[in-house]
Amino acid sequence: MAILAPSLLGADFKNLERDIRAVEQAGAGYLHLDVMDGAFVPSISFGMPVIAALRGCTGLTFDVHMMVEEPARYIKDVREAGADIICVHAEACRHLDSTISQIHEAGAKAAVALNPSTPVSAVDLVLPQTDMVLVMSVNPGFGGQKFIPYALDKVRNLKKRVRELGLDTDIQVDGGVTLQNAPELLEAGANVLVAGSSVFRGDPGENVKEFIKIFERAGQ
Ligand code: DX5
Ligand code: ZN
Repeated sequence: MAILAPSLLGADFKNLERDIRAVEQAGAGYLHLDVMDGAFVPSISFGMPVIAALRGCTGLTFDVHMMVEEPARYIKDVREAGADIICVHAEACRHLDSTISQIHEAGAKAAVALNPSTPVSAVDLVLPQTDMVLVMSVNPGFGGQKFIPYALDKVRNLKKRVRELGLDTDIQVDGGVTLQNAPELLEAGANVLVAGSSVFRGDPGENVKEFIKIFERAGQ
């Protein structure tokens, strides 16, 4: 079945532990943690001390989305803080191949993110060693933005390429994901959906359950 990765950026920062427990109990699979450096993206979010503190209050898989320049500089630190999956942007890495190897050497799964304007071909050569590709469906930096429709075609193309190569690379979508567009994202080939506002606005536990119902209906 597909995996829901609630994005902590959409949670109530005064009550992170409460919100994390709610989504965990309701059946979320990953916790998506957005690290922003104010350089690769305009905003600054949170870093290693926050991730390390939260590691103690949940068993969820930590999926850390590094929206930072040259993320290779932080692989060791983010892994030590508790990351299970470390996701780097193709646009932010001068040596993407070696950064992926370093993530694996640190004992984490390696994911590569693509900004909306970056073609799927940017990851073609590294697909065999990449555990997950993140297709951004908004320009990264903020929660609560509107889904960019052409991301759907990128998911389809990527899924086709993954099949051609006989791989089982996970395909994640992040930005503007809602209960409404989730079915077509799954149909296009995505199997990990990140959702910030559509999980944490309202009742997080109930929202997670609604997403899971959609996953079940899609039979994925
Ligand atoms: C945006 C972040 C997202 C964000 C998603 O740059 O990478 O993970 O929190 O938030 P929503 O689901 O509200 O678009
Ligand atoms: Zn993200």
